[in-house]
Amino acid sequence: MCEHAVVTGGASGIGAAVVARLLERGVRVTVLDLAEPADDGEQLRHASLDVTDTEAVEAAMAQAREAFGPVTRLVTSHGIRGAYVPALELDAAQMNRVLGVHVVGTLLVANAMARQVRDAGATGAVVTISSTTAYGGWVNQADYGVAKAAVSQLTQNLAIEWAPLGIRVNSVAPGHTLTPMVQQMIDQGYDVSATKARTPLGRLATPDEMAGAIEHLLMDATFTTGVCVPVDGGWTSVGK
Ligand SMILES: NC(=O)c1ccc[n+]([C@@H]2O[C@H](COP(=O)([O-])OP(=O)(O)OC[C@H]3O[C@@H](n4cnc5c(N)ncnc54)[C@H](O)[C@@H]3O)[C@@H](O)[C@H]2O)c1
Repeated sequence: MCEHAVVTGGASGIGAAVVARLLERGVRVTVLDLAEPADDGEQLRHASLDVTDTEAVEAAMAQAREAFGPVTRLVTSHGIRGAYVPALELDAAQMNRVLGVHVVGTLLVANAMARQVRDAGATGAVVTISSTTAYGGWVNQADYGVAKAAVSQLTQNLAIEWAPLGIRVNSVAPGHTLTPMVQQMIDQGYDVSATKARTPLGRLATPDEMAGAIEHLLMDATFTTGVCVPVDGGWTSVGK
């Protein structure tokens, strides 16, 4: 059976690099993204939606199944930046927005995918996207960092619950990767020189380097489930 993958956030950055790799290896791909849908092809379809909207997610996942068969692979690469303000300035609306997109959005799409795998009697795999900010306390990152730590935790919960269904669930924690999200931060004055200096490999990652690790966990790592793999040029390995 030809594999069918959904990539949320597949219109940009890391998600778009994942889409390119999956198409290359013959996987059918459905992109779910807030962005206006690009042109569909024989092997590629798009739908525009907000991953926090339960009904929209259910409808888009049902349409995806109709078009390409049960969704057996999922990469949740949607995401938004945090407000990058001190915790004292965070309000409920901002916190809920960031947690909603990263945590609730990931759960909703993953649940819809797992039901399709179960109903089809198939097996599957999910890769979520965490962040190096999930590994400790970072100044001005209480919304984004907490959301990403929750994504890592959710990954473990789903891995344990869905192992009996034959679904592996893993996560990648990217270090700084030069995508439109990070380019926008740089354009607004964010200085990446300190990041580069602290990173043993001495530079930012490319989206395709991130996609390589995601592809491995999604398609090839058949005995790996419940892990969150830092792909960060050594950042999390540095001692004090
Ligand atoms: N770039 C980095 O350095 C970096 C580091 C750590 C983690 N991440 C994470 O990697 C993932 C991909 O980020 P990126 O850098 O490729 O960003 P990006 O901005 O290039 O792409 C994110 C995509 O998600 C989509 N999106 C946002 N909110 C959505 C929603 N509610 N519903 C549907 N789609 C939505 C956007 O439209 C966009 O196409 C995100 O989860 C991000 O937090 C990125």
